[in-house]
Amino acid sequence: MSPEAPIPASTASWLPVILDSAGPFSQPVTTLAWVIFTGGFVILGIVIAALTIALFGSPRLKARLGGEKAIWIGGFAFPVVVLTILLIWGLWLTSHLSAQRITGDEMRVRVIGEMWWWRVHYLDENGRETFRDANELHIPVGQPVLLDLQAADVIHSFWVPRLAGKMDMIPGRTNRLLIQADAPGVYHGQCAEYCGGPHALMGFVVVAHAPEDFARWQAARAPAPAAQGSAARGADLFMSSGCAACHTIRGSPADGLAGPDLTHVGSRRSLGAGILPNNKGTLAGWIADSQALKPGNRMPAYHQFDGEELRALADYLASRQ
Ligand code: CUA
Repeated sequence: MSPEAPIPASTASWLPVILDSAGPFSQPVTTLAWVIFTGGFVILGIVIAALTIALFGSPRLKARLGGEKAIWIGGFAFPVVVLTILLIWGLWLTSHLSAQRITGDEMRVRVIGEMWWWRVHYLDENGRETFRDANELHIPVGQPVLLDLQAADVIHSFWVPRLAGKMDMIPGRTNRLLIQADAPGVYHGQCAEYCGGPHALMGFVVVAHAPEDFARWQAARAPAPAAQGSAARGADLFMSSGCAACHTIRGSPADGLAGPDLTHVGSRRSLGAGILPNNKGTLAGWIADSQALKPGNRMPAYHQFDGEELRALADYLASRQ
């Protein structure tokens, strides 16, 4: 049904994500990380050499290593000079990452951190909401995207290492962050500030599309047509069993706001805020016992559904494309 070109599941190399920038707003962080890691290895080499001399060196070398001059240079002057240069250079390198470079031409999205998932509100150029989604952020490649980052409850931190540095999400204020992907792909993100309970399971994905595919994706944000067959039975269960009190599915009576918007849940790549692949099996498993999959999350386990009911619910949700 989706006409878009397939998106590579991952464009990442074997490098740790922090050393593998995929856009201009993470590049300075990556440059800094390379310098710090490389410098760290060189200094580690020097320390091991000094240790080797201290243990196995000739008495003359040992005396020089333990002399006052070596202590002053290696133990005082060198760290002071290196750390001062690193501080000034790092501040200069990352200074332009602050939101001062906003031009007004960026695509805009508001992302709100919740315990333990993400509300995603797409905005028009005037900052008005156009539609809602959750736990997945779609962007066009090669275009800066300005994020308004907020928090509903406690402090979270928005971090997609390959696209930008970290930015805290603080209740009562809006922090701004620019991201941009230079190639189509799926970029994984993670809450980077301890926010209680399943903080470590508060992930998300950013999906970067080629511009024409992004336009198609955007045009396909109308609610899916009414469900048929087993999915229709699932829709009835969804509306009558309490699901609709917490979740919105546009185009249906479900208009709850406590949990993630499920209008297009069937098209998402992951489930449970970035922690599971999204398919009928994981959908049914999540409904039956989300507490076993993500202990402490705010959705209760629904042990009352039998296998057939779970299949119907999964059919319904999977059809919400
Ligand atoms: Cu949200 Cu940690």
